[in-house]
Amino acid sequence: MISVAIDGPSGAGKSSMAKRLAAELGYTYVDTGAMYRAIGLYALRSGADAHDEAAVAALLPEIRLDIAVVDGTQHVYLNGEDVSAAIRTEAAGMAASAVGTLAPVRAFLLETQRALARSRNVLMDGRDIGTVVLPNATVKIFLTASAEARAERRRKELLEKGQPADYATVLADIKARDWQDSHRAIAPLRPAADAVLLDTSAMDIDESFAALKAIIAAGIARRG
Ligand code: DC
Repeated sequence: MISVAIDGPSGAGKSSMAKRLAAELGYTYVDTGAMYRAIGLYALRSGADAHDEAAVAALLPEIRLDIAVVDGTQHVYLNGEDVSAAIRTEAAGMAASAVGTLAPVRAFLLETQRALARSRNVLMDGRDIGTVVLPNATVKIFLTASAEARAERRRKELLEKGQPADYATVLADIKARDWQDSHRAIAPLRPAADAVLLDTSAMDIDESFAALKAIIAAGIARRG
């Protein structure tokens, strides 16, 4: 089985790139952030503090997560409810980042993520795929861009969705999430020693896509 691990900070374009690449390669795209978001959403809805390990751990036995790929798009079901759209809010992203610092949550999701890669070719994106989830991935990529470039892209994206956002606020949110994701004790965001680094600050979408494709092709060729 071939596995491509793409890690990096939020807003680096991992999911849009990974989706496109997976479609082209015919691999299954696995968005691990969506799983953390679903748990974050459940914590929000339950009124639990997403940073409180005991409170969130107590919720885990109530949670059943199902992942299905419908027309090439991953859908996440939280106790049977399709929450694929509900997990995309800024609040769910922040809650995901908070629950992602907790050991019981990471343990809860680890096996689900590994199992998905055992039986099919995958392109999996997240924060710890190359370092923890799939340490033997065929290709590991760390996709990044400056916080400023990511904030500008995010602001534009929100504007296109009819949700005008203030650049300074978006930038502050991105920096807060970067800090939380890279400073946690377990599985922090960092490049694996054998990851290829790609900084897309000065690249547009097509250039980033071409660069990623070349890295993947070279990585697969190297592993034979
Ligand atoms: O990729 P995303 O923005 O959907 O991820 C949301 C949060 O989930 C992210 O800020 C940290 C957490 N996360 C994680 O801890 N580990 C992963 N493999 C994926 C996401």
